[in-house]
Amino acid sequence: MNYPYQLQSFEAYLAAYQKSIQDPEGFWAEVAENFTWQKKWDRVLEWNFQDPKIEWFKGAQLNMTENCLDRHLATRGNEPAIIWESNDPHEQHRVLTYQELHFKVQQFANVLLNNGVQKGDRVCIYMGMIPELAIATLACARIGAIHSVIFGGFSAQAIADRLEDAGAEFIITCDGAYRGAKAIALKSVIDDALVGNKTIKCVIVCTRTRTPVSMSKGRDVWWEDEIKKVETMGNPKVEPATIDAEDILFILYTSGSTGKPKGVVHTTAGYMVWTNYTFVNTFQYQPGQVHFCTADIGWITGHSYIIYGPLSAGATTLMFEGVPTWPDAGRFWEVVEKFKVDILYTAPTAIRSLMACGLEPVKGKDLSSLKVLGSVGEPINEEAWHWYNEHIGQNRCPIVDTWWQTETGGVMISNLAGITPAKPSYATLPLPGIQPCLVDENGVEIEGNGVNGNLCIKFPWPGMIRSTYNDHERCRQTYFSTYQNLYFTGDGCLRDEEGMYRITGRVDDVLNVSGHRIGTAEVENAINMHACVIESAVVGYPHDIKGQGIFAYVIIEGKNQDLESLQKEIIQKVNEVIGPIAKPDQILFVPGLPKTRSGKIMRRILRKIAEGDISNLGDTSTLLDPSVVDQIIKLAR
Ligand code: WTA
Repeated sequence: MNYPYQLQSFEAYLAAYQKSIQDPEGFWAEVAENFTWQKKWDRVLEWNFQDPKIEWFKGAQLNMTENCLDRHLATRGNEPAIIWESNDPHEQHRVLTYQELHFKVQQFANVLLNNGVQKGDRVCIYMGMIPELAIATLACARIGAIHSVIFGGFSAQAIADRLEDAGAEFIITCDGAYRGAKAIALKSVIDDALVGNKTIKCVIVCTRTRTPVSMSKGRDVWWEDEIKKVETMGNPKVEPATIDAEDILFILYTSGSTGKPKGVVHTTAGYMVWTNYTFVNTFQYQPGQVHFCTADIGWITGHSYIIYGPLSAGATTLMFEGVPTWPDAGRFWEVVEKFKVDILYTAPTAIRSLMACGLEPVKGKDLSSLKVLGSVGEPINEEAWHWYNEHIGQNRCPIVDTWWQTETGGVMISNLAGITPAKPSYATLPLPGIQPCLVDENGVEIEGNGVNGNLCIKFPWPGMIRSTYNDHERCRQTYFSTYQNLYFTGDGCLRDEEGMYRITGRVDDVLNVSGHRIGTAEVENAINMHACVIESAVVGYPHDIKGQGIFAYVIIEGKNQDLESLQKEIIQKVNEVIGPIAKPDQILFVPGLPKTRSGKIMRRILRKIAEGDISNLGDTSTLLDPSVVDQIIKLAR
């Protein structure tokens, strides 16, 4: 496979960027020519940001898996599509060639069909990082079912909410999942999530940990048994279903500033073109290279850069079940050495936690295969950038700092490895097709360089969010109503004197903890469910490893409580309602919260106190009761 649209010099980037702005339709039509279409499009783009209505390649028909699998068979059939490395360093790794993956996806597509899954049905996938997870998502895409992958760290309650919102009828899960020294009993979490659920017809359970599970007759079936049935049928072929360009490929739930996660909707053609284009260009992927993205497929990074981007490009994608620090902090480097990884794409939080383990785990590991390093999910601080560059990249691998979001489908602002300039802690320049702009609070565009503002995007790109599932108005409100005719990212951003972009962090009530997006309102909702809690306010504060930590101010009922056990109970509550990823790092019991006369919590003040910086709390005169601030400060000491 070669990539005629791969940009190979800075000049080529500049020219492509120019063209993508002057003639977006022509630009993307040219890129789209490199894919397999069952029917070509009538229009490249129709759009408005008011509704919003975003339609790319309208009228076209295609199948994502035909592009990710079938079209590579002739040239790359015997090349590895997926290399899988177990959590357990002593367990044999697995390799699935494009031929094998193609076969297994059809086999499992048959399982889905046999169990009544139809085009457009929502299938929830709650599995660990095993090849069957990739097979399950691709099998959905094969038949046009909509997958919604839920990260293994979410609780039963969080799953139940998502199942209901998506109106899911099917679940694919595992008995359990390994994560470092732990085995998580996934199926039992699903059982809890299904108490009271009325829509789920069938749960398919794949064996991984051999954790005992209870199977509900008439609802639950084993993956392996179902595969056997397909084998007795003689493994019939499943032709790639004909899918309209704007049919939904998947829903992925993400946090926002309200308590309820929203189902970000991505459709088929635009997302395919975008993930492929950004994969090939950002990482400068060369055929035969091994691409190792360490994200979990439960997040957008795993969707776009473990599955769809790499596979649509005929690449070899490495899937790792484990964690960076188990059995020891050398695990990533072992994997790099073992599979001669070319491209390593990970998160600043992983880099910082490995950095904290010192250089011993890196010593003696052969990292000479590495050519490109990537960072995603949160701002990378300069110290971590330099450590990554020096000790992992050995000063010879470009680092791509890729800024993007669940909603954007793929990389938006990033240097292109070795092609465009890098700058530590800067995402640098927009990809072709991306028109970023900075605006002030009133939505007035801030022109020129050396300026700060809220980051918006002016023009649609193929991989952008189409809707929030079942609630299009919410999509409009969240992303398209803050500023007229602009997509608002929720991020603050600096454009320096050279026109390079540096993301400064969220400007809304969304936290970024270890690269995971968590809404403060979600955590507050969970805390408030504890019977003793009257009210709470959650803010983020700088955390050395996680980037941000979660600080909760909590007002409780009555006095003489055992505060220590109450803290534990509150943490337990958050585990139950959301999952361990949202666990507060600090809980402070307070008599009141700083509120304005209209009842709004002044989070700015709470953030300052959580940061331990009370030197400049700003204007507190609009507070209903300014003395509450002094009381909180005393308690926080
Ligand atoms: C943040 C992850 C700085 C940002 C792909 C964004 C980043 C949110 C970067 C999206 C980066 C992501 N530099 N900040 N390179 N990449 N972010 O939806 O605040 O999980 O809005 O998507 O992560 O997180 P999400």
